[in-house]
Amino acid sequence: MKVGIDLINFQTSQYFLDLATLAQVRGTDADKYRTGLGQERMAVPPPDEDVVTLAASAALPLLEKTTSADIELLLFGTESGVDQSKAAAMFVHGLLGLSKRCRAVEIKEACYAATAGLQLALAWVQQHPTKKALVIGADIARYDLGSPGEPTQGCGAVAMLISTEPRLLALDPETGFHAENVMDFWRPNYRTEALVDGKYSTLVYLSTLVDSWRQYKALSGRGLGDLARSCFHLPFTRLAEKAFVRICREEKIPEPAQDELQRRVGTSLLYNRQTGNTYAASLYEGLTSLLDNDPEDLSGKRISLFSYGSGCMAEFFSGVVQSSYRAHLFTAHHQQMLANRTELTYRQYEDIFRYQFPDDGGDHVIAPYRTGAFRLQGVRKHIRYYERAT
Ligand code: COA
Repeated sequence: MKVGIDLINFQTSQYFLDLATLAQVRGTDADKYRTGLGQERMAVPPPDEDVVTLAASAALPLLEKTTSADIELLLFGTESGVDQSKAAAMFVHGLLGLSKRCRAVEIKEACYAATAGLQLALAWVQQHPTKKALVIGADIARYDLGSPGEPTQGCGAVAMLISTEPRLLALDPETGFHAENVMDFWRPNYRTEALVDGKYSTLVYLSTLVDSWRQYKALSGRGLGDLARSCFHLPFTRLAEKAFVRICREEKIPEPAQDELQRRVGTSLLYNRQTGNTYAASLYEGLTSLLDNDPEDLSGKRISLFSYGSGCMAEFFSGVVQSSYRAHLFTAHHQQMLANRTELTYRQYEDIFRYQFPDDGGDHVIAPYRTGAFRLQGVRKHIRYYERAT
């Protein structure tokens, strides 16, 4: 029985800051961001957008192509949840009008959380082959103004329907994974901006990649030649290129020429270059970018996925693209969304960044900005209220 990703959809904010603008204000060479980090723009969430609105907007189109009563599991991976106690999944469950017979919870392990959700959901659909799971990764990546992490900020959500006989990607059972208690990126409960030891984090990312890859290889008997494309977690897209080269080095294969490197990983980077880091969503935004944009027909081809969440948890796994995949993508929606965003000035970006969500328990209506299908309407007595935006 095949299990895997039946449908996938991605949502980001309607606003962005061009990194050339940020480079100018910070007195940095724009090529450092464009070439050194591989980033062009960062998605900026307005005050009425949060992980709940991004996630519900990402999931809504999936419901039009499935029977929502079959969804009995909703797993929401995020590090930027809206409540210390109540799962963001519960708000999304309500906005989407899902069946009351549904387990809905939030999962946390930095950028790995949605992969935990995906792996749990795969095991669950094997036990319940007629049912479906909705797995969502959504995050708002925030670092201090002027910090090295600032140009890698972003926001977005990816919603995936997990089922038997999936229409997009049948996942292989062999996976390599690695847990280790390290302090490379974290966000104490009292902070709205993450703390990161960026260079150390990159080193841990690459070393856990090698360990996960070795396990995957030993369990599956597959090598790099069996993988037509490779998707990686993308704190910044240049890291995926380094990750692929690192596996080549591990395999004692000569470093790929630039055109071969771009063929193997380049198409998965297109969306993230335009949004910045989306933490839990980032790997799956890369997968969406690959399936939407790769010029070759990937039907029957095996692709690999590497998930990394600081702290840290890493996993290397793979799947086979299904023959009818192109008929079930939301490519036009993604391309229009990215093309129609509103560009912010630096001043507008900083004003939005400094906006403080009201925490006085009073009644506050949030002014409407451009969003996806849902928006945060206001907060009253510490309760968040959401509404349909379109
Ligand atoms: N033109 C082209 N490239 C340039 C450049 C220029 N003018 N100036 C610098 N670069 C390159 C550097 O050589 C470097 O590339 P390399 O690593 O291949 O050598 C890259 O740009 C970054 O420069 P660096 O000086 O190392 O950047 P930094 O000190 O500003 O920090 C990060 C970079 C990635 C560490 C930082 O952005 C960060 O912490 N990001 C957050 C990472 C994260 O979220 N991790 C947690 C989840 S995995």
